Amino acid sequence: MRNPIIVGNWKMNLLLEEATHLALSLVRELDGIEAGEVVICPPYTSLSEVSKRISGSSIRLGAQNMHWEDRGAYTGEISPQFLLDIGCQYVIIGHSERRQQFGETGEVVNRKAKSAVSKGIIPIVCVGETLFERKEGKTEEVVRRGVEASLKGISREEIVKVVIAYEPVWAIGTGNTASPEDANAVHRLIRQVLTHLYDEEVAQEVRIQYGGSVTPENIEGIMKEPEIDGALVGGASIQSGSFVKIIKTAMKARSRK
Ligand code: 13P
Repeated sequence: MRNPIIVGNWKMNLLLEEATHLALSLVRELDGIEAGEVVICPPYTSLSEVSKRISGSSIRLGAQNMHWEDRGAYTGEISPQFLLDIGCQYVIIGHSERRQQFGETGEVVNRKAKSAVSKGIIPIVCVGETLFERKEGKTEEVVRRGVEASLKGISREEIVKVVIAYEPVWAIGTGNTASPEDANAVHRLIRQVLTHLYDEEVAQEVRIQYGGSVTPENIEGIMKEPEIDGALVGGASIQSGSFVKIIKTAMKARSRK
């Protein structure tokens, strides 16, 4: 049975005080609740403080990006060592905003994913098609290529720790969500790719989550789908009320699956 995982990607939002406030509120609201795995990914500037606030709770810390090297002349970058140093256990890799706005290629995403797993950080590897690609009927091809390129060189032992996030680009921040059935079909395709790259056991073990306009209203339908193990939440994760509701509803839906 795959452990459900809900991740909050705060993106470039929340100043230090707002971030620590939200972290404390989540700790309080989720105390004693059977919540699967909950991960929050604040901006770099508040990682350290948020790390202190959630210490001792069941909430885990993730970063939104990282460099693949440990140290050196990489102005403006943050390495896996730095993330481990402040208690980060997860890192989002290859988010479409990084691919589209910062030119991250499949090769760069692969380097980062490989570096993360080798250092003991769980990469949340994002893949997904644009609206144009979807309209052209290329969803399968784009997702398959995305998964294959991102996971190149990752061993069987390492892959089971990786989380894959299916985030259709057209659904991010738009209020348009993939229907639970459509999302489930793409998740199934990703498991087929994993079977091809590794084997059936690996394909059944790796967690795959959906991202793109997830809300307290649509999370139940998403989590009821058999291949979907969680959600990568953007906008609705930067308010305690909506994020807690998403987590609680997700876990309830999951226990009924
Ligand atoms: P929204 O939930 O705001 O659509 O963002 C999704 C996302 O990009 C999470 O990484």
